[in-house]
Amino acid sequence: MIPKGGIAFFDSGIGGLTVLETCRKRLQGELFYYYGDNAYAPYGNRSEKEIFRRVKKAMRLFRRLRVQAVVFACNTVTAVCVDELRKKYSFPIIGAEPAVQLAAKDGGEIFILTTRATYQSHRFEKLLSETSKKYPQAKLLAFACDGLAGAIEKNIYNAAFDYAPYLPDGKPNVVVLGCTHYVYIKQLAGKKYQCKVVDGNEGIARRLTEILKNNKNIRAHTCKKPKKSFLRPFITTKAKRCKEVNKYSPKNGKKNPKKDEGANVLFLGKSKGFNEKAYKQMFAFTKNGHKSVFGGQKIKKN
Ligand code: DGL
Repeated sequence: MIPKGGIAFFDSGIGGLTVLETCRKRLQGELFYYYGDNAYAPYGNRSEKEIFRRVKKAMRLFRRLRVQAVVFACNTVTAVCVDELRKKYSFPIIGAEPAVQLAAKDGGEIFILTTRATYQSHRFEKLLSETSKKYPQAKLLAFACDGLAGAIEKNIYNAAFDYAPYLPDGKPNVVVLGCTHYVYIKQLAGKKYQCKVVDGNEGIARRLTEILKNNKNIRAHTCKKPKKSFLRPFITTKAKRCKEVNKYSPKNGKKNPKKDEGANVLFLGKSKGFNEKAYKQMFAFTKNGHKSVFGGQKIKKN
């Protein structure tokens, strides 16, 4: 039986693992689910109807698991589905959006690399027009990098693979990685363009933390304090739970030390074994926390 009440992450494949790791570092002690739909990846060249169908399947599972929140660790899924699915589900859904506004602040030429589905979406069009209005000094150039997410997904264990043919040429001032799969080639993009390369992972982690904090404060306030009585040693489970919630509520700024136990991630879906192995190899876990080994290093296959 899968324990309920965790935070769910969804991506077409391995891209969302980097988002998960960024969030996990901030939210130690939480339970996380990771659902990667690798068998159907990449999503970027699929129709909106197909993407919806796949995402809805995962959402039904998340609902059964009574999740605290869902993170679409995928720009494509966010671009296509987030508006409609937010209306349908009562739990919060945090999306992944290309960090265009962050990149455009200082002006200059901004390359935004995305999948075809993100590139063609209304959400992305809106993001570009809003950013242009806000930062007219920035020149936004968006590119649909067909095949790039698929190549990353296939070659995660092949450090020698050449991604150069998938990347547009030019001399931008900043590059925005508008697909979570592209985070795996962040260093490579930095080398090619010799400029700052940004992704949206920290922004997602900040937003998720904020949402959970607000929800937990509401729950902590609604927990009544247990009454004092001579039966105190036999305190009820519910009262005990309330005590824990109040003691470690984010309002107090305290973390539960008992809960800081490294990776607390459950992998879901048909490709759970593949994603779990990739995650563990990229982010090596020690007993007292975690040590990242990801970042341009070769990943061992076995
Ligand atoms: N990781 C995804 C994104 O952020 C999807 C890539 C794909 O499946 O094409 O867009």
